[in-house]
Amino acid sequence: MERRFLYPGKTDIWIVPDDVNDENREARLRLLSERERSRYASYQSREARSRYLAGRTALKRLLSFYAEVRPDDWSIEADCYGQPSIKQPEWLSFIKIGISHAGGVTAFALTIDDAVGIDVSDRFKENDVSLAPVILSEHEMAAYRATLPADRLEFLRDRWTLKEAYTKALGKGHWIAFDTFAFDHANHSAIRLQHALEIQPIRWQFRLFNVGELRLALAVAARAPRPITVEIFELSVAFDAFMPVPGAA
Ligand SMILES: CC(C)(COP(=O)(O)OP(=O)(O)OC[C@H]1O[C@@H](n2cnc3c(N)ncnc32)[C@H](O)[C@@H]1OP(=O)(O)O)[C@@H](O)C(=O)NCCC(=O)NCCS
Repeated sequence: MERRFLYPGKTDIWIVPDDVNDENREARLRLLSERERSRYASYQSREARSRYLAGRTALKRLLSFYAEVRPDDWSIEADCYGQPSIKQPEWLSFIKIGISHAGGVTAFALTIDDAVGIDVSDRFKENDVSLAPVILSEHEMAAYRATLPADRLEFLRDRWTLKEAYTKALGKGHWIAFDTFAFDHANHSAIRLQHALEIQPIRWQFRLFNVGELRLALAVAARAPRPITVEIFELSVAFDAFMPVPGAA
């Protein structure tokens, strides 16, 4: 894979299949720092451990497309709210990262300096309609009720995915109640944020995409007022085909 570049205002999104298995697990674990390995071990289920390992090792290898740093020399740590950031090499910490897992893939968003959040969501099921009062503000609830019943699950999924991406970009996740802010988003026009705590809603830019069956939302808070450029790279094959892990069979 050739070297990739980011510049202010550019966001790269990567969709990578989760591909950890018994054959590559040991080699993948060698890419983790000691802290990352203890986080890996702290997950109760094998599935959760594999998802975390696939995500972290894919991210480190992705980052090595952007800078001449070995995958195992990156250290990515979460703050007390869970927001991940680059800790080593420290001078590259201006690269901001967003992560989301769903449907057997991990999605990453990479920017320079701008706060970024990403979320991918599977299709909502019929009983997810019970989440509407938790996800939606009063204003959105009115729009939801005015939506054709057949379109309501997609309405909900869009709002959920956008709200997850936004609150991750803020670094707070579910600590911010989702019914306290809203998105105005009709007929594919620009997606606008209404949040009483945001004094500069205009700095935010949002995108929604379909990735197969998944819905993907991106939230970027631009440091300077400028349009953003987004490129999506979807890997359909295991990462090992692009960048073998050193020492792997
Ligand atoms: C962020 C959050 C919404 C993610 O939820 P999710 O839908 O289950 O999971 P996703 O796969 O979409 O996202 C997971 C990724 O979000 C990122 N993330 C977690 N917390 C984050 C935060 N506060 N800000 C930004 N990103 C965050 C992580 O990188 C994580 O991936 P990783 O574990 O592989 O590093 C949720 O974990 C959260 O709200 N966390 C903060 C609040 C909290 O800790 N609540 C726990 C009890 S109230």
